[in-house]
Amino acid sequence: MLLSELSGVGRDPAGGVTRFAWAVAELELREWFSARAASLGLDVETDGNGNLWAWWGGSLPGTAFVVGSHLDSVRSGGEWDGPLGVASAFAAVESLRASGWMPTRPVAIVAFADEEGGRFGLACLGSRLLTGAVEPERALGFVDDSGVTLAEAMTAAGHDPRLLGADPTRLAKIGAFVELHIEQGRMPLPDGAHGLTGAGRPVGVAREIWPHGRWRIDLSGVPDHAGTTALADRVDPVLAMAEGIVEVRRAASELGILGTVGRVRVLPGAVNAIASSASLWVDARGQDADRVRELVTLVERRLGVAATLESWTDVTRFDAALTADVAAAVGGEVPSLPSGAGHDAGVLSLAGIPTAMLFVRNPTGVSHSPDEHAEEADAVAGVAALTAVIRRMAS
Ligand code: GLV
Ligand code: MN
Ligand code: MN
Repeated sequence: MLLSELSGVGRDPAGGVTRFAWAVAELELREWFSARAASLGLDVETDGNGNLWAWWGGSLPGTAFVVGSHLDSVRSGGEWDGPLGVASAFAAVESLRASGWMPTRPVAIVAFADEEGGRFGLACLGSRLLTGAVEPERALGFVDDSGVTLAEAMTAAGHDPRLLGADPTRLAKIGAFVELHIEQGRMPLPDGAHGLTGAGRPVGVAREIWPHGRWRIDLSGVPDHAGTTALADRVDPVLAMAEGIVEVRRAASELGILGTVGRVRVLPGAVNAIASSASLWVDARGQDADRVRELVTLVERRLGVAATLESWTDVTRFDAALTADVAAAVGGEVPSLPSGAGHDAGVLSLAGIPTAMLFVRNPTGVSHSPDEHAEEADAVAGVAALTAVIRRMAS
C-alpha cells in the first residue's frame, strides 16, 4: 500500500494526523523522503526555503521535469493530502527505473515545505518563498501558537533561516511541474456530473484553482468580571466575533461563494471573565475574485473594523499545453476539474512555470479531515498516470 509506511507518523489522538512544518512528525517524513530517494539512487538536497528535492539525472541538459507535492498536514487532517503526490512520484520513478527507461532531461521529486500553513498561518510558504511571492522578513516574523517563531523552528530542525528567500536560479531550472493530489470535494464538471466519482474515473486533471484568501479580524473588549459587570456595561468582543462568524456564512450564501471561520482566539480565555480581545480568521474562496473580496467587505461593514489580509491567491489557470500532454499520457477520457483548494502548483503557475495537476479519486470528496480517503486501486491508477506523464515529458 502506497502510504502504509507513513500512516503511523503524527497520529493525532483527536483523529487523523497532525504534521506541522518543522515539528517532529514532519521531520520524520523528511527523513523518509531522504531514505526513499537514497534507495532509488537519487541525489537529495534541501533548498534555502526548506523544500526537499530528489534529483534523477540532475546533470542532464535542459530544464527539469518536476513532480511531487508536500508532506505537512492540517491539524487532525487526512494522510493523503500531500504525501500521496510525493509517494506516487517515488513509486513512478521506481517503476521507470525498473523498466530500464532513462530520462533525457533532469527529473526531480519535490516536497514543498509548509504547504498547509497549519503552524505559521500562511499556506504554501515554501513555494511562495521560492518564487518571491512572500518576503523572508515577513515569514521570519511568523509565530506559532506556542510563541515559537519560524526562525526558531527552522533552527531547531537544523535549517539556517538566513537562507530564506526568492531563488531565481532554482526556479529557472524548473521546466514544468506536475502535482498529483487527492481529489478534494466533488467539483462540478462541464457535463453536470460531480467529481471523479460522478465521472466514474479514477484520475482527472485540474483546470484552475479558484481565487482564495485568508483574513484575520481582531476585536478588542474591556476585560472585567463575569459575575460583577452588568450586561449593559460590557464591551464584550466575543459577541462581535459571533456576529462576524454568522455574517461570513450569510454573506457567502448571498454571494454564492464559500466562506469559513475555522479558527478563533479569545483572550485571556477565562470562563469567568469578559474577554479582552477576540480574533477570527476568515477563509473565503469562489470562482469570482470580486465576490470573494466582497464577502470580507460585508463582514468588515457589519463589525465596523478592518480585516487584515494574511494571504491572497489569484485565480490560477493551469498550462493548457502541459495539461493536454498530461491527459494524453493518461489516455482515454480524463475529466478536468476546478479546485477549491490551494496548491503549490498554483503558486508555481502564478510565477510563470508551466504547471498541471493530476487528481486521484476520493469517493466522498472529504478532505482536511481524518475521513479523507482514496481506494488503493485508484492510488495505483494515479501512480500509473504519473509514470506515463514522466515518461512522456522526459523522454
Ligand atoms: C490548502 O490545502 C488550502 O486550500 O487551504
Ligand atoms: Mn490541504
Ligand atoms: Mn495539499
